[in-house]
Amino acid sequence: MSAMRRIAVVTSGGDAPGMNAAVRALVRSAAAEQIEVLGVRDGFSGLVAGRFEPLDSRAVAGILARGGTILGSTRFPRLHDRAAQEEAIAQLSGAGVDGLVVIGGNGSQQGTLAFHRLGFPAVGVASTIDNDLAVTETTIGVDTALNTAVGYIDRLKDTATSHQRAFLTEVMGRNSGYLAMVAAIASGAELAMVPERPVDLEVVAEDVRASYGRGKRHYIVVIAEGAHPGAHDLVEYLGSHPSGFEARLTVLGHVQRGGSPTVFDRLLACRFGAGAFHALLAGRTGIVVGLVEGRIAEIPLEDALAPCNKVTPEMLALADVLAR
Ligand code: F6P
Repeated sequence: MSAMRRIAVVTSGGDAPGMNAAVRALVRSAAAEQIEVLGVRDGFSGLVAGRFEPLDSRAVAGILARGGTILGSTRFPRLHDRAAQEEAIAQLSGAGVDGLVVIGGNGSQQGTLAFHRLGFPAVGVASTIDNDLAVTETTIGVDTALNTAVGYIDRLKDTATSHQRAFLTEVMGRNSGYLAMVAAIASGAELAMVPERPVDLEVVAEDVRASYGRGKRHYIVVIAEGAHPGAHDLVEYLGSHPSGFEARLTVLGHVQRGGSPTVFDRLLACRFGAGAFHALLAGRTGIVVGLVEGRIAEIPLEDALAPCNKVTPEMLALADVLAR
């Protein structure tokens, strides 16, 4: 028989479409076992300040399809300090909370691990558009962000073709090139520039020139925000080393984080949210719920936080072949 009576849930770091669906799944799974849930307002900063509100089944009605997070989120670097971690645990214990679920990405799950190591039961839910947690195949929000990015790149391709231009599109992903790589393959881009494989700008310019010479009507480059050289370097280089195409740069930015989650992300969030509740209830802490070989998996946080590279040699090779 579990000693859990009340748990808390926090959404932390960059929001991701599907976070609300995960909150809803957690709350309703807990309600089915007569366990109370407190929602933490505004991420780890609200946790340290003890800003809690009760969440019952009705409180999470109508949020499944909503982007963002109804709980609010913040960047809160101070949580790296032991003092802030202890303040957070004191707030949780003071509110009678027996366990915490952290819905977030890499930075947030470092907080989950810190709570677990301090002896407070804590479980993570892998949720970030960056897909930069190791072991899990994907995280909540990636599919929606990719669909958004690819939708915009398709539009950019239309106008690029009309004007015979080179369009460079910067996508998010922090230090990971995963979003850029998949968006490039799925939009039929001529090139992906990712941190995992730096390019030589002259080699790129040569290919752009050759494509123009072959009569191509557009040249699309999808560039990860973490790539070096990056989008601004390339647009400058093409500006001073003419290739035939006029170059334009579009930075997609935060539009990739908004919007209603796709069916894939909704389902993933429902499964992850319920999975996190059951792990916590069973006393399995220090893990993050992710997806391994298509199945829900409880991944030790140390493993999920290890360096990861999801841009595989196969993806790079496929992108190169299909761009010809
Ligand atoms: O981690 C998600 C993410 O959107 C990254 O892709 C991006 O680098 C970062 O957050 C942007 O952070 P902020 O919203 O704080 O500007």
